[in-house]
Amino acid sequence: MKVLIAGGSGGIGCALVQSILDEMPGTEIHATFHNTSPEKELQSLPVEWHKLDLTCAESVEGLSRQIGSLDWIVNTVGMLHTDEHLPEKSITQLEPAFFSRTVEVNVLPTLLLAGCFQNNLKSSDSARFVSISARVGSIGDNRLGGWYSYRASKAALNMVLKTLSNEWKRKLPNCCVAALHPGTVATHLSEPFQKNVPAEKLFSAQYSAEQLIGVIRDLTAERSGQFLAYDGTPIPW
Ligand SMILES: NC(=O)c1ccc[n+]([C@@H]2O[C@H](COP(=O)([O-])OP(=O)(O)OC[C@H]3O[C@@H](n4cnc5c(N)ncnc54)[C@H](OP(=O)(O)O)[C@@H]3O)[C@@H](O)[C@H]2O)c1
Repeated sequence: MKVLIAGGSGGIGCALVQSILDEMPGTEIHATFHNTSPEKELQSLPVEWHKLDLTCAESVEGLSRQIGSLDWIVNTVGMLHTDEHLPEKSITQLEPAFFSRTVEVNVLPTLLLAGCFQNNLKSSDSARFVSISARVGSIGDNRLGGWYSYRASKAALNMVLKTLSNEWKRKLPNCCVAALHPGTVATHLSEPFQKNVPAEKLFSAQYSAEQLIGVIRDLTAERSGQFLAYDGTPIPW
């Protein structure tokens, strides 16, 4: 097995790397980081780290040439807020530059990884192409409103994954494409909102990663094109 964890420096990405090391011994792991260098302990693990901006087409193309064939790609790259901006509570708070950056970070890496790594997944007989989406990207499940930029970006990500699953049913029939919701997970991304989450609903990154790996393992090419939660239950698009 050979896997790529995009965003291995993030809370969920880092936990995925550690869970794969624990649960899938012998797997060759490649992981990416951008601004956050992996901690010393992670650097000493048998993981090949790549520093790049996954919104840059040339960088992703270069990575695909460097890594070669793969079985799994799991993209965890995402943003909800910046130091200057929290997600919008009201439409009157929408700020165009923040909206554009959110869409860029939450959608473009998946598009670029799919385009640049299509041939890298061809020789695997159980390939997976998975991106971490979010339940709040579901249009059918949206009852609260708010978070315009994040919700719109994850809905766009979901559409990209569904469209890709249709194209790859013909071109990569052995590959399963999926959008996964990790639960609410205690990471930098959710940090400003954790106080409103009941303790039992705030998952550790390790718990979420273990659940996600179970879901990814259970996927089959016939089930390509689904939006699933951390426990494997389907979420409406
Ligand atoms: N945490 C939650 O409760 C929750 C809930 C639902 C969905 N999600 C989704 O789960 C995914 C992972 O979230 P997380 O909680 O682990 O967030 P996180 O800890 O903030 O990690 C975000 C990751 O994205 C990377 N990244 C951001 N911009 C990048 C770029 N331009 N190029 C390359 N890498 C970039 C970061 O890399 P650097 O730090 O190295 O720059 C980091 O590895 C996200 O897609 C998020 O939307 C999270």
